[in-house]
Amino acid sequence: MDFKGKKVVITGASRGIGLGLAKAFLANGADIAICATSPDTLAKAKETLKALNLPGKIYTQKVDVSSASECEDFINNIIKEYGQIDVLINNAAVTKDTLLIRMSEQDWDKVLSINLKGAFLMSKAALKYMMKARSGNIVNMTSVVGQMGNGGQANYSASKAGIIGLTKSLAREFASRNIRINAVAPGFVKTEMTAALKEETQKEILENIPLKRFAEITDIASAVMFLASDDAGYITGQTISVNGGLYI
Ligand SMILES: NC(=O)c1ccc[n+]([C@@H]2O[C@H](COP(=O)([O-])OP(=O)(O)OC[C@H]3O[C@@H](n4cnc5c(N)ncnc54)[C@H](O)[C@@H]3O)[C@@H](O)[C@H]2O)c1
Repeated sequence: MDFKGKKVVITGASRGIGLGLAKAFLANGADIAICATSPDTLAKAKETLKALNLPGKIYTQKVDVSSASECEDFINNIIKEYGQIDVLINNAAVTKDTLLIRMSEQDWDKVLSINLKGAFLMSKAALKYMMKARSGNIVNMTSVVGQMGNGGQANYSASKAGIIGLTKSLAREFASRNIRINAVAPGFVKTEMTAALKEETQKEILENIPLKRFAEITDIASAVMFLASDDAGYITGQTISVNGGLYI
């Protein structure tokens, strides 16, 4: 897919799927802007990306997506640096898993404010410029557990179900401005997030995946890039599931 000259913003790109997306967009000609909360891992990610020796520019900034002022500052700096934003990928997220009875109000608020409010805040900041340009594209990362629920993940599942509602509403609101907004719902992907699951739990999950494997990060990147590309020009408000058949 050709993203030559396109300016692509990816939140939470210091590792995992976000870093994989950063690699994929760079490899397809884009200039990228990435953020994460830890300056150290962000600096490491930048080194990893630079080592690919691809021509695209790499802008990095430490940002907490749950802060409106930090989102606005990040987007304003990208506009100063690149002059435009073509694609925004709202990827940053955290988990704070536990059974509801043990779930603290703080754990609920933290997950909702990063995963759902973060996507709202970053979209709002970027859409201001996309509206002026009458062009733009947002891809939100949701999850299979936002579609089917998961015991022990009430906060995370609610945040990811919320992302689907946000995606549908923004798609309706901004279609007349030539801005498309879609979501990708991964199943279980080989990342640090899933590596943290107990071996027993990983086995149980695999038994329920018809394709009998966890997704590679590249499986997710392919769907994100498709939605962000002109090939998906007539698709908006949709959620593409990339889950090996776990939820059909
Ligand atoms: N890994 C999976 O199996 C899986 C499955 C379904 C959906 N997803 C979704 O895909 C996305 C990426 O998942 P991952 O496994 O790569 O996660 P990860 O934990 O490996 O990486 C998350 C990234 O988000 C950043 N981040 C966390 N809090 C932040 C904040 N407040 N502000 C800015 N950045 C912040 C982290 O620094 C990191 O770069 C998430 O939206 C996740 O919900 C992952």
